[in-house]
Amino acid sequence: MGFSSLCLTFVSMYILSIFVLFHLVVANSLQSYTTACHDDEISALLQFKQSFVINTSASGYKGAYPKTASWNSAWNQTSNCCSWDGVECDENTGHVIGLNLSSSYLYGFINPNNSLFRLVHLQSLNLADNDFNYSQVPTSIRNFPKLRYLNLSCSVFSGVVPFEISQLSELSSLDLSENPDLTGYFPKFNASSSPLMSLKLSFTSFLINLSSLIEDFDSLKELHVSECNISESPLPFSLGNLRHLTYLDLSSNNFNGQIPSFLKNLTQLTYLSLFVLIRLSKRMRRPRY
Ligand SMILES: *[C@@H]1O[C@H](CO)[C@@H](O)[C@H](O)[C@H]1NC(C)=O
Ligand SMILES: *[C@@H]1O[C@H](CO)[C@@H](O)[C@H](O)[C@H]1NC(C)=O
Ligand SMILES: *[C@@H]1O[C@H](CO)[C@@H](O)[C@H](O)[C@H]1NC(C)=O
Ligand SMILES: *[C@@H]1O[C@H](CO)[C@@H](O)[C@H](O)[C@H]1NC(C)=O
Ligand SMILES: *[C@@H]1O[C@H](CO)[C@@H](O)[C@H](O)[C@H]1NC(C)=O
Ligand SMILES: *[C@@H]1O[C@H](CO)[C@@H](O)[C@H](O)[C@H]1NC(C)=O
Ligand SMILES: *[C@@H]1O[C@H](CO)[C@@H](O)[C@H](O)[C@H]1NC(C)=O
Ligand SMILES: *[C@@H]1O[C@H](CO)[C@@H](O)[C@H](O)[C@H]1NC(C)=O
Ligand SMILES: *[C@@H]1O[C@H](CO)[C@@H](O)[C@H](O)[C@H]1NC(C)=O
Ligand SMILES: *[C@@H]1O[C@H](CO)[C@@H](O)[C@H](O)[C@H]1NC(C)=O
Repeated sequence: MGFSSLCLTFVSMYILSIFVLFHLVVANSLQSYTTACHDDEISALLQFKQSFVINTSASGYKGAYPKTASWNSAWNQTSNCCSWDGVECDENTGHVIGLNLSSSYLYGFINPNNSLFRLVHLQSLNLADNDFNYSQVPTSIRNFPKLRYLNLSCSVFSGVVPFEISQLSELSSLDLSENPDLTGYFPKFNASSSPLMSLKLSFTSFLINLSSLIEDFDSLKELHVSECNISESPLPFSLGNLRHLTYLDLSSNNFNGQIPSFLKNLTQLTYLSLFVLIRLSKRMRRPRY
């Protein structure tokens, strides 16, 4: 390598390093732009907004307000959907990864073809305390393979829950509670591969085969199945295998018999509700926040 080519190498490295430095400085000062959300996701969110009406009877929580009302499509800075109320984006990719529209006065059907299901990068979805007018939980839920948190509690869903929900292999928290019109068998999860830690099904009308549901479900920490339609009595002994349980609510089901001995196995339990002998004859009204 001659002098001049060596020199050239140095010069180009120098230029390169200045370029890299410049790039870093500029990139830093423009960070809010680099996380701008994607056009297809903006339009999916706006179509989602449009598929519901705002109805103040749809949410019961007193801090409720219409989060989607401030979403707008202006093609300026404020149309970066990452800064919209309830929307969370990935800092690097700009994809929408979280949607929290709990208690947002949303009222209307949610169909399997709703634009929501185009937000395929979602990891967290909270639609709790709205009124989906007795919609079924759409099978399109399978479009969210990265979903870890799903909260549809108290949102007027009905019918059977599609087995697709049990195929969400990253799901660690599922809350379907307080939808008294959810019926049919609750789908069985693959306990050996599912990371599900928290399962809330209280105040639903699911038929639950507890022994089948909890079979080898080592990951479960919280199980809320109060006021469901659990068929087994007495309680299955396999509950004693859920060694990581910290919260267990089985109240107001059709159990009878004695306090089961396997409970002594559940050493991490900090909350337990059985009410084995109490059966409410009348189903409670849908509780409100
Ligand atoms: C608002 O929702 C309630 C049910 O929660 C429904 O009975 C009522 O008709 C709705 N009103 C409008 C204007 O959609
Ligand atoms: C962006 O658009 C909104 C709604 O049209 C408007 O209120 C706001 O002033 C605009 N912001 C900028 C920085 O132009
Ligand atoms: C969702 O938003 C509500 C406020 O509307 C907040 O209280 C709640 O903690 C949020 N939940 C999640 C999971 O982000
Ligand atoms: C809610 O459901 C009722 C009964 O099916 C229907 O008449 C009404 O149009 C629905 N409202 C909305 C906003 O979807
Ligand atoms: C979405 O599905 C509903 C019923 O499931 C149907 O009425 C509607 O036309 C569909 N919309 C589109 C855009 O396909
Ligand atoms: C689901 O949302 C409701 C209403 O916001 C809240 O009370 C409940 O704690 C949430 N469930 C989970 C598992 O976060
Ligand atoms: C359950 O998960 C395990 C481990 O990933 C896998 O080997 C098995 O085939 C799965 N079973 C079903 C029924 O999907
Ligand atoms: C519970 O399931 C049985 C069928 O096994 C059904 O007859 C009954 O109506 C259900 N009860 C409730 C409260 O859903
Ligand atoms: C519950 O599931 C277990 C195991 O899969 C099965 O042996 C049992 O018959 C089921 N019980 C009912 C009532 O369906
Ligand atoms: C208690 O746990 C052990 C393993 O941790 C298990 O072998 C045993 O069957 C459990 N006992 C009951 C009653 O579930």
